[in-house]
Amino acid sequence: MTWRGRHIYLIGLPGAGKTSIGRELANSLTKSGYSFVDLDAEIIRRSGKSISEMFQQPHGVERFRDLETNLLLEYAQLAFEQRPLIIATGGGTPLRAVNRALMRGSGVTVWIDVTVKQAAKYVMQSLLRGETRPLLRASNVEELNDKLRALHDERLPFYEQATLHFVTRSQRGDEHTPAELAEEMLRALEQMSRRIKLRSKFEIFPVRSALGDYPVAIGNGIAAQELAFAIRDQSPRRIVAITDENVAKLYGSKFYERISQESKRAIDLHQIAIPAGESSKSQKTLFDLLDSFQQLDLRRKTDLIITIGGGVVSDVAGLAASMYGRGMSLIHVPTTLIGQVDAALGGKTAIDHNNKKNPIGTFFPPRLVIIDPLFLKTLPKRELQAGLAEVLKYGLIGSRDYWQRHAKTIRRLLRGFDPGFEILIRDAVREKIRYIEQDEFERANGVRELLNFGHTFAHAFESASDYKLLHGEAVALGMRASAWLSYELKMLPDAEWREIEQVLGRLPMPQEIEFSVDAVMAALSQDKKRGARGSRFVLLEGIGRAVVASDIDPKKVSEAVEFVLATF
Ligand SMILES: NC(=O)c1ccc[n+]([C@@H]2O[C@H](COP(=O)([O-])OP(=O)(O)OC[C@H]3O[C@@H](n4cnc5c(N)ncnc54)[C@H](O)[C@@H]3O)[C@@H](O)[C@H]2O)c1
Repeated sequence: MTWRGRHIYLIGLPGAGKTSIGRELANSLTKSGYSFVDLDAEIIRRSGKSISEMFQQPHGVERFRDLETNLLLEYAQLAFEQRPLIIATGGGTPLRAVNRALMRGSGVTVWIDVTVKQAAKYVMQSLLRGETRPLLRASNVEELNDKLRALHDERLPFYEQATLHFVTRSQRGDEHTPAELAEEMLRALEQMSRRIKLRSKFEIFPVRSALGDYPVAIGNGIAAQELAFAIRDQSPRRIVAITDENVAKLYGSKFYERISQESKRAIDLHQIAIPAGESSKSQKTLFDLLDSFQQLDLRRKTDLIITIGGGVVSDVAGLAASMYGRGMSLIHVPTTLIGQVDAALGGKTAIDHNNKKNPIGTFFPPRLVIIDPLFLKTLPKRELQAGLAEVLKYGLIGSRDYWQRHAKTIRRLLRGFDPGFEILIRDAVREKIRYIEQDEFERANGVRELLNFGHTFAHAFESASDYKLLHGEAVALGMRASAWLSYELKMLPDAEWREIEQVLGRLPMPQEIEFSVDAVMAALSQDKKRGARGSRFVLLEGIGRAVVASDIDPKKVSEAVEFVLATF
């Protein structure tokens, strides 16, 4: 795979020539569709303030960095729309992990490596031209040199992560023009493409959280590489990877070897494999994990917990991570469709208790979520199909467009995994993030709660089937029951109900499981969110329009269950 068509991010010290070389590079590449942008200049243009002005405001540096990240996000999108850019970044752009991930995901990074002396010379010239550089205010060359050397030392580990290391100093100390350097860089890019296999592009979605923002990285085949980068960034003393026995068998040691190779360092990694399945969301597994953490002498400030598995693993291990040491550093690598589009996002953790689903849990956002759809290649077809219910849910509750895009591909999706799942997962993740950002702790009634569409019924179906029904299968049944209820209550038009029923009715259900309406109704009466006005149901006023309702006639609820069981 060649570098052409990807963004080219030029990184390096102030005065490295990112802007001047970048412009020349863009001139040579206009025919290939490239154009040039200067990140700092664009921030100044959009904010209407100079960088010095921004830095002088309270929290000015942080605000500036936020603008920088937002702009990178915008530019990164263009790489997926085949509109490649050459981007001269700010000297400090690679300091943020999310920025580095955005650049890795959408392009190649080229570190223009100059000596401090060279940089000082160019910075001095620019200062004389009247440019202001708040981090490099100096009264003489020596002071400027010292400041640049400090920046260099601080930033070197991040610059070194670039895809291409471009040294501009010539052996003989000759000066080169920006045009000559651009030409040389093009040759270096070509050579690099022949030498190393560039990975496919991937996307980053930043999630805003009151407990700390975190990025979600999504792309086919990115898991080992992105985990390695995260490990390099955090340099944990000890890593505990929590998985289940099935995932450990399939991926275990080979996957850890790849992470360690990619990290380019020896890592102290311990694997804990819990038994697979819902029964592991238990007090016993939770305390077994906490015991293991203690035996491994895990410490909050230096160690890292990674979950690699489905929703069961991220729920129980996430809870353990939130409790141990009052909260460990946590990364989720979901390996099931439900994990990738739902369970690993949003920070909810839980175990089941006294035959109730999820009554004990915390809100504990991870530091990072890495979604690699290729894990789904090995996921049993029944699990994959069950996950599709959660995927379709996002359309029904919030976006007709989304529903139409994905509902019509349901036949293809049911056939099994293909690399196109990446697009579906991206769309679903984007939707889920919208809800969790608006109402992270499910406080504003009716925002995040809408994600529970079908779930009041689903939890009862799961429990009545003695958890033989998969979560996703129960959600599919629950969504059908909720749609039927919405239709019966004259909220949902007939044609839309039929459309929903036609699509959800295609999701296969295991025929051997038997359970009665009474058992489901008994489980519903145990609903943990039940209030004085009965259970709360998310109902539909149309495809893409959901509302929360309570005080529903129990007879109607029972008829909804009957309807679904009759067509099970
Ligand atoms: N916290 C949340 O916000 C949230 C959201 C949705 C669901 N959940 C919870 O998630 C759980 C369901 O998640 P799930 O469907 O991922 O179940 P799961 O974790 O039990 O995984 C399903 C099965 O797939 C296997 N598996 C996992 N990855 C695999 C792979 N790549 N290849 C082959 N086999 C693989 C597992 O071993 C398991 O047998 C439920 O407990 C549900 O309550 C939580």
